[in-house]
Amino acid sequence: MRIIAVINQKGGVGKTTITANLGHALQIAGYRVMLIDMDPQAQLTTSLGIFRLPKKGIDRVLLDQMLLKTVEIHTRENIVLVPAGSQLMEVEHLNNGGVSRATLLDAALQQQNPQQDFILIDCPPASGLLSANAIMAADEVLIPVSGDYLSLNGVAHLLTTLKKFETLRLATLQRWVVMSRFHSRRRLSKEVRSKLIGHFPDRVLKTEIKEAAALAECPAAGRTIFEFRRTSSAAQGFTQLAQDLVERRTH
Ligand SMILES: Nc1ncnc2c1ncn2[C@@H]1O[C@H](COP(=O)(O)OP(=O)(O)O)[C@@H](O)[C@H]1O
Ligand SMILES: [Mg+2]
Repeated sequence: MRIIAVINQKGGVGKTTITANLGHALQIAGYRVMLIDMDPQAQLTTSLGIFRLPKKGIDRVLLDQMLLKTVEIHTRENIVLVPAGSQLMEVEHLNNGGVSRATLLDAALQQQNPQQDFILIDCPPASGLLSANAIMAADEVLIPVSGDYLSLNGVAHLLTTLKKFETLRLATLQRWVVMSRFHSRRRLSKEVRSKLIGHFPDRVLKTEIKEAAALAECPAAGRTIFEFRRTSSAAQGFTQLAQDLVERRTH
């Protein structure tokens, strides 16, 4: 099993888009997938077509030790969604418990040992306790970076945060970077790409996810790109990205 946190404290870089569509691409490739919505805004949950937000979700697992099984939703064959839940924001405000406040998700996954091949965790655009829980539970992080210079600064900051957690976890996190919202004809996008590859050799996945109108239209339809435009180049991009992750193909 590979547990991967899709993380970047910057909003709008494509975390949720990547979690939903990469998840579906992995399922199509034959894997069993669990997707966990760790963002109180619940956009992963709605992206998958669940518009009436469930009250119970990962919030109750973290706050009340409810079983994953009792809150999970089988959204597609071999895709289990653990929705956000209405009290998820409360995790950010937990005061007691010291370091154990950051290992609630890890404890739940360890105890309940879900049977999927991939667990993808969609993180909120913040570096608080929810993201900390994702980092502590994951073996790997997937960092979407969009094609602007500001996002490069954000990555440096994120990597410093990851280093700190590694000392707590006593285990290293595999880091993957994915270029997202990429404009192939834009010079800046290509510059950011070569900078990233220079800074993180062997960490930047081969496939860029391009900016594509169809990807922006998917969430309102509650569908993934494979259900919305199965033959689009955007769908092909996610098929390739899934392969990159499986085979660990990087620049
Ligand atoms: N590759 C892309 N092409 C076009 N629109 C995208 C792409 N990736 C994300 N978007 C859109 O940009 C917005 C932010 O993306 P999202 O995945 O929600 O980012 P995050 O989860 O990092 O905040 C959403 O409206 C989404 O539909
Ligand atoms: Mg998001």
